Order: sequence, then C-alpha cells, then structure tokens
Amino acid sequence: MKTAVIFIGLQASGKTTFYNKYLNGLVHINLDTLHTRNAEAKVLTDCIEKGISFAVDNTDPTAEDRQRYISPAKAAGYHITGYYFSSAVSGCRERNAQREGKAKVPDAAIYSTIKKLERPTYGEGFDELFYVRIDSENNDFIISPWDTEEAGT
Ligand SMILES: Nc1ncnc2c1ncn2[C@@H]1O[C@H](COP(=O)(O)OP(=O)(O)OP(=O)(O)O)[C@@H](O)[C@H]1O
Ligand SMILES: [Mg+2]
Repeated sequence: MKTAVIFIGLQASGKTTFYNKYLNGLVHINLDTLHTRNAEAKVLTDCIEKGISFAVDNTDPTAEDRQRYISPAKAAGYHITGYYFSSAVSGCRERNAQREGKAKVPDAAIYSTIKKLERPTYGEGFDELFYVRIDSENNDFIISPWDTEEAGT
C-alpha cells in the first residue's frame, strides 16, 4: 500500500524524533532539510509519480497547509495517515530550549504556530489519524487513535 504520512505539531513537539524512530523507511519530506518549497514540491511530485510512500515532517498547522499533500496524494490513491503531536507550548518551549544550534528556534516561532494551529479532522481526507504524546521519562511516545473529544493539547 502506498502511504502518505502527514505530521501536525508545534516546533519541538517531537516530529523528527518520531520519524527517525518509526517511519524512516519512508521518504522524508522536511523543510528543514529540503530548505525551499520548490525543492519540497519536486520531491513530493517525484514520490507521487512513482508511487513511493512518504512522510511529511513539517508543522503544518492549518488544514490548508495539509491539503498541499493530501489533495495530490489522495488523487493518486494513497492511504493518508495523520499524526497530531501533543503541542503544549510550555513543553515545546522547554524541549526547544534544550536543543543546540540550528535546531533551536526562536520562541516567537512557536507562538506564531500555536496561533494558527487547527486540529485535524477526517474531513480533510485522512484515512487514519493518531494522537501522539511524548513520554519523556521513558524517552518514548504514546500513540492513540485520534478522538476529537479526548485529545489533549
Ligand atoms: N519521546 C521523547 N522523549 C524525550 N525527548 C524527546 C522525545 N521526542 C523528542 N524529544 C526531544 O525534544 C526535542 C524536539 O524534538 P524534535 O526535534 O523531534 O521536534 P520537532 O517536532 O521535529 O521540531 P521542529 O518542528 O522544530 O523540527 C529534541 O531535542 C528531542 O530530543
Ligand atoms: Mg523536526
């Protein structure tokens, strides 16, 4: 099955760590490493033309952001899986403060993303949606099926 995975979550919510742990067999679509939307679009088109599974590891706070990937992938028959990363500003700021070098972003970036953040819905085209929380004590993740009523921050 060809799969398109889309992440949703603030800076330092754990997305790239999660990708490395569980999804590194999929092509990594990540603006931090691709740098430009142009380069990103090329990789996306290339994957879709060849039917290769990919994971989009960007913050993608709005439904409109997510459509950039969901719309063409769905049209090409991909299975669309979303992971929403618990995005409490306090926790993200703390983890961000611990990061080194370029990985560390200004707090203003976190505040800007939280303002835009729209929680995902199946109506956007997701076939599956999950809620992911960091279990920092165990350096692990807790993954549960998405439930709009139950999902926390
Ligand atoms: N499961 C975890 N347990 C403990 N610490 C974690 C866990 N996942 C991530 N972290 C820590 O949190 C920080 C942020 O993680 P990560 O870089 O994966 O976030 P991100 O969502 O990819 O951020 P960005 O959007 O800025 O790229 C990292 O320093 C990482 O070590
Ligand atoms: Mg990242």
